[in-house]
Amino acid sequence: RLEEIWLGLSAGILILFMVIVGYQTFALGMGPPSNKENIDPEQVDQTAPFDNPGVKKVGENEYEVVMTLQAFGFTPSDIEVPAGAEVTFTMTSKDVVHGFQVAGTNINAMVMPGHIQEITHTFDEPGEYLVLCNEYCGAGHQLMSTTITVK
Ligand code: CUA
Repeated sequence: RLEEIWLGLSAGILILFMVIVGYQTFALGMGPPSNKENIDPEQVDQTAPFDNPGVKKVGENEYEVVMTLQAFGFTPSDIEVPAGAEVTFTMTSKDVVHGFQVAGTNINAMVMPGHIQEITHTFDEPGEYLVLCNEYCGAGHQLMSTTITVK
């Protein structure tokens, strides 16, 4: 009698856990928190805004840098923005997971295929900022870097 209650109780708890895990997987775990919208990694070059990568002035003192990451480089590779401007990086990967880390700043983002990553930063100090990929992405990972020129 008592054993039946225990058995029923543990089965109930097991089902409850399965429901919770299932809910987390499907409702919460499907995308990273930074995910804004999905993008087909095969169609990046044909998908706005990535069909036209580059630095764009979008406001009084605001710039947008539309960038794609691929093994083993950043496009565009020559980025120049004014000091003190608000710069938003809009990024996606065309193949595997890459990193976007800018030395001397707190910019450190994961850029995944299928997702758009957005990061806003103001470079107060002029200079050359080293950009590194900090996610292992293949044989050329160590070579994957570029610079941002702030004038
Ligand atoms: Cu890209 Cu490491």
